[in-house]
Amino acid sequence: MDARSAILRSTFLIGLFAAVLGVFFYQTGLWSMQADAGSAVVQVYKGPQSGWPAPHLSDSIAHRPLAPLPEVEYPDDNPYSEAKEALGKKLFFDPRLSASGTLACASCHDPDLGWSDGRRRSFGHARREGRRNSQTVLNSAYYDHLFWDGRAESLEEQAMTAIAGPREMNQGLNLVADGIRNVPEYRRLFRQSFGDSTITVQRIAQAIATFERGITSRTSDFDRFLQGDRDAMTERQIYGLHVFRTTGQCMNCHSGALLSDDRFHNLGQSHLGRPSEDLGRFLVTGDTSDVGKFRTPSLRDVTYTGPYLHHGLIFSLREVIDMYDRGMPQIIPRKEADNPLYPQKSPLLEPLDLSDREIEALLDFLEAISTRPRRMSAPDLPGLERSDV
Ligand code: HEC
Ligand code: HEC
Repeated sequence: MDARSAILRSTFLIGLFAAVLGVFFYQTGLWSMQADAGSAVVQVYKGPQSGWPAPHLSDSIAHRPLAPLPEVEYPDDNPYSEAKEALGKKLFFDPRLSASGTLACASCHDPDLGWSDGRRRSFGHARREGRRNSQTVLNSAYYDHLFWDGRAESLEEQAMTAIAGPREMNQGLNLVADGIRNVPEYRRLFRQSFGDSTITVQRIAQAIATFERGITSRTSDFDRFLQGDRDAMTERQIYGLHVFRTTGQCMNCHSGALLSDDRFHNLGQSHLGRPSEDLGRFLVTGDTSDVGKFRTPSLRDVTYTGPYLHHGLIFSLREVIDMYDRGMPQIIPRKEADNPLYPQKSPLLEPLDLSDREIEALLDFLEAISTRPRRMSAPDLPGLERSDV
């Protein structure tokens, strides 16, 4: 090797080294700039809520601020009593409400599984697989529309639908009271709750609804943060709150104390033309503009209530967020293009282009709004020895 090429070579190596060093410092500079921007945001959120940046909302959406859950209201025609709540708890856990005598509400709404069943879709009567993922009953007191498609308007109506539903308990509504009526202890509990020992399916539903209204989320770190304890959330969780309110655009639908607007939206998940097809709200209203719409679920305790979405096909929250980040692309076979039921994805969804850091922070925020649901053991059931259950 002559002297000239040796010089050229070392110049090249020095140049390369300098470039690598440059990129390294540029990157760390960028990172620390990003981190600085992040911690500046965190400082703003540690201040009063009136100083927080405005949420990113579509023009059509009113701002419903995030807040701790309010007290549950009991309807005038089914007021709270301790006796009725305790009766409702027994009925909720009692498999004698089902045609087969083997399925209780608690079989698919298990307190240890976030009041859901942990399955993709529920197994109902005769182990028939249902169409949808079991919803949690946590906070169901706060919705005006129950079920994924909103087909029940009260917890009382919902309970009656669940008892009769062929994919749930498959029990004739006139028969259900019989199994319970023959148990003297139940007659006594109905007298205590309703004034006389008449047992009707309406009363069964009223007692169960009263029990369900007591099943609400515990105070989360996010609630403590909102109530003024600004150290209750980590910096990453606070940054995640910022992403949730702004670049993630989540508050277009997940808003208010429940983190749900109680309305129906199409997230491109109706799977038209596939075996998992589910037309959602359209099945209730018959209105084609409702095709593929489902009620926004609350996100409280969401880390405990998987798998996710009405079809239960999504097992991790990271995957859900990645789908939002891509703008919820729909997969519809080409041959369905002329189908009058061709679903229209919500115009509120667009690709978000979130950075990895924003996605991680968003996931951390979902942790901050989740608290392990209260433990609850199954009650003793009237007329059954513990060993029979
Ligand atoms: C076989 C499993 C199964 C059984 C048994 C069952 N459920 Fe459900 N539950 C589900 C599924 C699945 C959904 C969602 C169904 C849908 O949207 O069509 C649901 C939805 C609900 C909801 C709506 C929650 C919301 O956010 O809208 C409530 C409340 C509820 N069930 C209570 C009950 C009660 C009370 C009983 C007993 C009388 C019961 N369930 C029995 C599986 C079950
Ligand atoms: C256009 C309204 C809308 C927007 C915007 C929206 N969501 Fe949703 N979200 C929904 C609806 C509706 C569902 C249920 C859809 C279904 O099952 O088909 C849902 C489901 C979810 C679920 C699954 C919950 C469960 O129990 O299965 C999570 C988690 C979630 N959203 C988080 C977010 C986050 C985080 C953002 C912001 C990045 C966001 N959502 C933005 C309406 C929305």
